[in-house]
Amino acid sequence: MDQTMEKKKVMLSGIQPSGDLHLGNYLGAVRNWVKIADDYDCFYFMADLHSITVRQNPADLRRRSVSQLAQYIACGLDPQKNTLFIQSHVHEHAELGWILNCYTMFGELSRMTQFKDKSAKHAENINGGLFTYPALMAADILLYQSDFIPVGEDQKQHCELTRDIAVRFNNLYGPTFTVPEPYIPQVGARIMSLSNPSSKMSKSDPAGCVFIMDPPEEIARKFKRAITDSDTERCVRYDPENKPGVSNLMSIYSSVTGLSFDEIERDFEGKGYGVFKPAVGDAVVEALRPIREDAARYLADKEYLRSVYADGAARASAIARKTLRKVYKRIGLVEKPF
Ligand code: TYM
Repeated sequence: MDQTMEKKKVMLSGIQPSGDLHLGNYLGAVRNWVKIADDYDCFYFMADLHSITVRQNPADLRRRSVSQLAQYIACGLDPQKNTLFIQSHVHEHAELGWILNCYTMFGELSRMTQFKDKSAKHAENINGGLFTYPALMAADILLYQSDFIPVGEDQKQHCELTRDIAVRFNNLYGPTFTVPEPYIPQVGARIMSLSNPSSKMSKSDPAGCVFIMDPPEEIARKFKRAITDSDTERCVRYDPENKPGVSNLMSIYSSVTGLSFDEIERDFEGKGYGVFKPAVGDAVVEALRPIREDAARYLADKEYLRSVYADGAARASAIARKTLRKVYKRIGLVEKPF
């Protein structure tokens, strides 16, 4: 077959609109999505159904889902090249999610670290959805016969469970799903909190979290206040074990400037944390500035955003429908006569 006619591999990923996009989401996920748009058939969505496993304010959830789309586009995801949609607009996700629940074991779900972390954080609301969340995530991925899942390190365990579910299903009913692989960046896969470098950057810790839409002064302030290490050496050296704070800042700096750790160490030789921290802040401000400005522009054009997510849902549904029909048939559900 002519090389140019070969079907592109499928990439798929999503982010929960449970908070605004932060630097971890950007460096661990979205930035890498942008780099691969030409080489893959890409699907990216706002995982609103996943967000409701934790209580959300309905107006905020609605606003954030649309604002996340504006930020995806501002980060460089061209809606012509990528299918961008809102998860709940493609009802096949919830339907296949239910089915895959029946092929996912209690023991497997019990081992998920995200479930353990979130149930500790939301002890008053450990609902069934929080527990079965990975089966819905598997549905998101398997509906599109995805080959790769570009995510940060923290989603690796869910991706592995998705593979196990796909293999289990294929073994029972014959080839139905492509078995996907996680696609995790070398640098930036695990950005840590600026206020506590032993836990990952997350929207639930706003002081240690840099949001894409934060004003420049706010970003600069957060980096100046970033917790560094209490070692006596106080030099800029990559050593995640003994110097987690400065190593995290180096990962961020390397991600946004493209400099290697060796080059960063050389550039900041003899200069202490007091010089390095604002330099990282400035580099992040400059990297995020065009994104913030473009996102604000897209956000002002609600009609355009609506047309993007309507078109995305139509494209996504056409594919999801086919997979779901195949699954229904495989497991013995009677075909719908209309
Ligand atoms: P979520 O919404 O928590 O995070 C979205 C993406 O951002 C990455 N990420 C990070 N990367 C580096 N450092 C960090 N501190 C950091 N924090 C978050 C995550 O790894 C992820 O890639 N379950 C998913 C959403 C989801 C999904 C899917 C992903 C639902 N369905 C299907 C892929 C495929 C989640 O909660 O990601």
